[in-house]
Amino acid sequence: MKKTILDYTLKVRVPLTIFVVAISFIITFYVSREERDGVGYQPEQPIHYSHKLHAGKMGIDCQYCHTGVTKERHALIPSVNICMNCHTVARKDRPEIIKLREYYESGKLLPWKRVHKVPEYAYFNHSVHVNKGIDCESCHGNIREMEVVKQVKSFTMNACLDCHREPQKYLPYLSEVKEGPKYCAACHR
Ligand code: HEC
Ligand code: HEC
Ligand code: HEC
Ligand code: HEC
Ligand code: HEC
Repeated sequence: MKKTILDYTLKVRVPLTIFVVAISFIITFYVSREERDGVGYQPEQPIHYSHKLHAGKMGIDCQYCHTGVTKERHALIPSVNICMNCHTVARKDRPEIIKLREYYESGKLLPWKRVHKVPEYAYFNHSVHVNKGIDCESCHGNIREMEVVKQVKSFTMNACLDCHREPQKYLPYLSEVKEGPKYCAACHR
């Protein structure tokens, strides 16, 4: 009697338990993958600034505010001065614009929350990509439709390398594009 219970445990219960644990691990791994990569991250910002309104409806060029994209590593977030080019007049009585003016007058930096980020030990540079004709959408999705900015693409090492290996597949709109570097020191310098 004892022996058959042990047999049952070893032959059925143990493998079954291992199987169930393994399956649920695999499912959790894939389901939570995008989240771990930062995909879907959409922090609430201190001022309700809308890209959909400014960059979409009003059609303001990305570079009017993100002045670094063709020149340097960082795209740069605009200072309040740039907003005030218009908002000393536009909608100046609205609560969000009053808040904006308070930051402007106190000289305090707006504490925008960072959405996209690669770790310190990895090197990314906007200008080398943007100056080859790669558009913002290829890495950031359709910002012009976003009321609040959200990360929609993964920025893991594999995601960088996928495009570096087969740029034509990810950048079909470019007639000519070289492969990106795959050697470690290109991104870990
Ligand atoms: C009028 C100024 C302005 C214009 C025009 C503008 N942006 Fe922005 N952008 C901002 C500000 C301010 C932030 C920081 C607050 C936020 O995340 O919404 C920002 C944030 C971003 C971020 C997220 C940065 C992070 O923290 O990771 C991306 C990506 C971005 N903009 C892309 C674009 C693209 C693409 C365009 C053109 C289609 C564009 N922006 C046009 C002002 C602007
Ligand atoms: C080129 C001019 C221009 C610039 C630059 C600009 N805005 Fe605006 N913004 C407008 C106009 C015009 C409106 C009103 C549009 C409408 O309601 O149709 C507006 C609307 C807004 C609103 C909504 C106000 C409300 O409640 O009705 C906010 C918030 C805002 N802008 C924040 C910002 C911030 C923050 C920046 C800088 C990162 C900025 N804007 C830069 C022209 C500009
Ligand atoms: C090849 C992919 C790629 C392209 C193309 C790209 N970005 Fe980015 N962007 C990134 C990555 C990766 C980060 C995070 C960088 C970091 O943490 O240093 C980032 C961060 C940002 C940030 C916030 C931090 C910073 O660097 O100032 C803004 C704003 C931004 N991008 C705007 C833009 C705009 C506007 C364009 C188009 C003109 C653009 N990006 C094109 C990949 C890209
Ligand atoms: C959508 C495609 C795409 C993505 C995504 C992308 N890259 Fe690139 N990258 C390229 C291409 C294409 C080149 C080569 C440009 C050339 O030399 O013509 C390049 C070049 C580079 C270079 C070489 C710069 C130099 O100084 O020559 C570095 C470094 C780099 N990428 C880092 C990154 C990192 C880090 C990421 C991820 C966070 C990334 N890239 C994501 C397409 C991409
Ligand atoms: C095209 C750019 C690029 C190249 C080339 C590259 N890496 Fe990375 N690597 C990254 C980025 C971006 C990250 C951070 C995001 C992440 O953790 O996936 C990273 C993360 C890492 C990490 C930390 C991984 C982790 O899971 O925390 C290690 C280790 C690493 N890289 C080693 C290497 C080695 C070794 C090579 C050469 C065989 C290499 N990388 C080539 C961009 C690159």
